[in-house]
Amino acid sequence: MELVIENIVSGYDQADVLSGVSLHVPEGQITCLLGSNGAGKTTLIRAILGLTPARSGRIRFGAADITHEPTHRIAALGVTCIPEGRRVFPRMSVMENLRVGSYTDTNRQAVEKRLEEVFAIFPRLHERAEQLAGTMSGGEQAMLSIGRGLMSGPKLLIVDEPSLGLSPLFVKENFKVIQRINELGVTVLLVEQNVRQTLAIAHRGYVLSQGRIVAQGDAAQLRDNEEVRAAYFGS
Ligand SMILES: Nc1ncnc2c1ncn2[C@@H]1O[C@H](COP(=O)(O)OP(=O)(O)OP(=O)(O)O)[C@@H](O)[C@H]1O
Ligand SMILES: [Mg+2]
Repeated sequence: MELVIENIVSGYDQADVLSGVSLHVPEGQITCLLGSNGAGKTTLIRAILGLTPARSGRIRFGAADITHEPTHRIAALGVTCIPEGRRVFPRMSVMENLRVGSYTDTNRQAVEKRLEEVFAIFPRLHERAEQLAGTMSGGEQAMLSIGRGLMSGPKLLIVDEPSLGLSPLFVKENFKVIQRINELGVTVLLVEQNVRQTLAIAHRGYVLSQGRIVAQGDAAQLRDNEEVRAAYFGS
């Protein structure tokens, strides 16, 4: 389902972080949101999830107006977020972490099928199913956090800076995985600072700067965009 954000204002306490952000995530595509530290990317995700509710503007997911819905109801519509910094449960096994991702789902068959799908995407998680998550490498924990997100059977997967702090090899692998998940039919909103690799897999995207959208277009247009070049490619 598509996500449509219209003119959202949101922030913390007295300060607005987002001053009128509009953004469209078409069904079936990878849409990216680029922006440097403090631009407001995570705040926008929090607004979508109902964690930092919009002060004005509108957020629609498919036919549903979710602007003022509580977080659990937004999640129940199929919106799943893989948070910044991954946050797996370190003292739980890989398998237990994955099952947490689907604990509200009472359809056992669907859950088992998803587990198989996750293991097909991440054979390494299968091999390490009984290992404590906290003893795995950063890259493996990143896989686990994505796997856990998939266990909820998302329609829209929001990924907050998946490449942060990962080695180049894992970054590459992670981006490939996100592309594969999209090809399996999941709509993706990919929030990143890694411009090159993000634009290599995204269909279209937006650039957020100080709480405003300063550029948008398809991936090729963004690669050629002056603002993007100046901010990220140093030319
Ligand atoms: N919980 C909070 N309370 C108050 N201010 C916050 C809070 N979280 C973020 N901010 C402020 O909101 C602004 C935007 O932060 P946000 O985390 O949305 O940026 P970001 O684009 O996700 O940055 P990064 O790339 O570092 O994750 C920053 O000025 C930040 O200091
Ligand atoms: Mg952030």
